[in-house]
Amino acid sequence: MPERTAAARRPARLVPFLSLLALVAGCSPERYPQTALLPLSDYARIGDHVQDQTFYWALGVFVLVEGALLYAIFRFRGRPDDPEPPQIHGNTTIEIIWTLIPALILAAIAVPTVKGIFETNASPTGDVLKIEVIGHQWWWEFRYPDLNVTTANELHVPVGRTVELLQNSADVVHSFWPPRFAGKRDVFPGRQTRMWFKADSAGLFPGQCAEFCGIQHARMAFQVRASSPAEYDAWAAHMRTLGPKPAAAAPSGDSVKTASAGGTVQGPKVPAQGPQAKADSATPSSQDPEYAKGEQLFKMKGCIGCHSLQAVDAPKGMIGPNLATVGSRAYIAAGWLRNTDENLEHWIREPQTVKKGVLMPNLGVTAEEAKALRAYLRAHQ
Ligand code: CUA
Repeated sequence: MPERTAAARRPARLVPFLSLLALVAGCSPERYPQTALLPLSDYARIGDHVQDQTFYWALGVFVLVEGALLYAIFRFRGRPDDPEPPQIHGNTTIEIIWTLIPALILAAIAVPTVKGIFETNASPTGDVLKIEVIGHQWWWEFRYPDLNVTTANELHVPVGRTVELLQNSADVVHSFWPPRFAGKRDVFPGRQTRMWFKADSAGLFPGQCAEFCGIQHARMAFQVRASSPAEYDAWAAHMRTLGPKPAAAAPSGDSVKTASAGGTVQGPKVPAQGPQAKADSATPSSQDPEYAKGEQLFKMKGCIGCHSLQAVDAPKGMIGPNLATVGSRAYIAAGWLRNTDENLEHWIREPQTVKKGVLMPNLGVTAEEAKALRAYLRAHQ
């Protein structure tokens, strides 16, 4: 039955096509959002433009060279009794042509490349928001000098305003890389490097340390949270309320106002601002019976020695990330582990299992204690 055989063969013939489709679909930004191919800022578009131009030149060269090669292979295939073909070694015309063509292509690529290097290295002017970026093994500290606030692992930027990143390292060489917004820039101890970009889309986008810096280099990630100017201002106003008094000194939840309403009351219940994903957990509360227990444990277990819980006037040189807003961050453990209750408790109990080599030691926290600490931290929104 030849018809049935042909029908059976048809799906098999589709396999290469379907594999290619799966590969293309697999490269979608939804599954792999850490891509430089979908730029979301002026800076990233400069790099993307150079990349596009180079790619089309390379594609043209590939098609021409491979086409000529395949044509020559079939058209001039040698037969066993063919005579020796004419030798063209020392043909001046051909040598001039194949020197000139690549030189012209390289010149065509060099023009946008050099232009892009000068553009991206220029100092931004106008209404620029300065943010200090400090690399640590293995997390990122962000300080907003104009606001006098500090946060960690989640870089908040307003859409439509240029931010200038003033970068430094507290220990070894790292490289700050927010691929949707800018290129890679090394950060060094004792030397400042700079980078800038103007985000044009709101959302939460991943970034990564791009210079090997120790055992957990691969998990030295961060998120860029780009939001509308109004949302950014609300976030900034909220951050300004997270002052030196520990959150526990706040009266219980009912007297806490939102920052956008002009409230200046210190408190752990204000919802964080942002256009996208939040921590995957129920609204926390300082009235949670676990909260007071967690607050005690935070001191007793020594957490307080490495982590500050105040965003305003945060001390410099802390070993661990600032936790003033840890409860509302989308990720923990430096931007790669979803901030669920389960993950947060596991992270508190067994940091050396979750992220081997991390500077946070296993402190012998029991499951009960981890629950209390989680409730306490979750209330820091
Ligand atoms: Cu920091 Cu790699």
